[in-house]
Amino acid sequence: MRQTASACAKVILCGEHAVVYGQPAIALPLSDVRVTATAEPAETLTFVLQDLNETFDLTQTHPITELAMRVCEALNVPPPPIAVHLSSQIPIASGLGSGAAIATAVARLLCQVLERPADPEFINTLVYESEKRFHGTPSGIDNTVIVYETPIYFVRDKPIERLTLIGSYTLLIGDTGVRAPTHIPVGDVRRLYEAEPDRIGPVIEAIGKISRDIRHLLLGGDASAIGRLMTDNHRLLQTLTVSSSELDSLVMAALKAGALGAKMSGGGRGGNMIALVTPQTRAAVKDTLLQAGAVHVLETTLQGHEFSSP
Ligand code: MEV
Repeated sequence: MRQTASACAKVILCGEHAVVYGQPAIALPLSDVRVTATAEPAETLTFVLQDLNETFDLTQTHPITELAMRVCEALNVPPPPIAVHLSSQIPIASGLGSGAAIATAVARLLCQVLERPADPEFINTLVYESEKRFHGTPSGIDNTVIVYETPIYFVRDKPIERLTLIGSYTLLIGDTGVRAPTHIPVGDVRRLYEAEPDRIGPVIEAIGKISRDIRHLLLGGDASAIGRLMTDNHRLLQTLTVSSSELDSLVMAALKAGALGAKMSGGGRGGNMIALVTPQTRAAVKDTLLQAGAVHVLETTLQGHEFSSP
């Protein structure tokens, strides 16, 4: 029987970059956008990246082979003789967590093939190690939201907090089409912070305050106030130099078309932006984003609990 495992994409609602320095951030899974890993019998452990038409095995240095070796070492078993076929709906270097999602799908599939439980804490630790090895100083937010596949309020090195909220919030996710690996803006923010701690420290703290305020507002259902804070967060990310002209023009276009708020999302310098919309503004904002150059627009709804009166 063919075995398969998958993992979702993610989007950051607020707090990216500041989260690397201990400030809170909020991230959401995109369960409809996934990486799928399928195992087929083979002579040795091989990986086939279907979308990139690339095949490699354990003799080659690659984030995926290193992760696979780490999984087998941790489980104390030899690499299984399978070909892992990977197919992804998540564009790479677009701020949607493709690296962490590929690693999660591979780790889950190996656990399945090796008949070991795919314990989320175990997978999360391995995927975080892999992120650290290839992305410098990740906060751990990407692997955590992807492995647990639930909205999270995340503070580095703190226990995971699942987000609680009231009401429903629809986000449009506009892709600039510009691919930008996360470690570059993360490294640039670090250098900027080291060079100008007195100017950059308060910016990072102000982003953290926005995440705390948005967490609070999500419990009160005030979408307009959340939107305003998202736009404030975008301005602070501009100060950190991680936005780009493409991201800025999609953010401006969304706001002009009636979005409650808009910001870049993820590492920046390209990739995706998000806009908070209402049922009334959703179609207009989506059309405007496409006219303003978004290569495609995804949609996700963050659904909270409805409390009925007693
Ligand atoms: C990337 O999705 C989020 C960043 O804050 C980096 C990180 O937290 O590791 C830019």
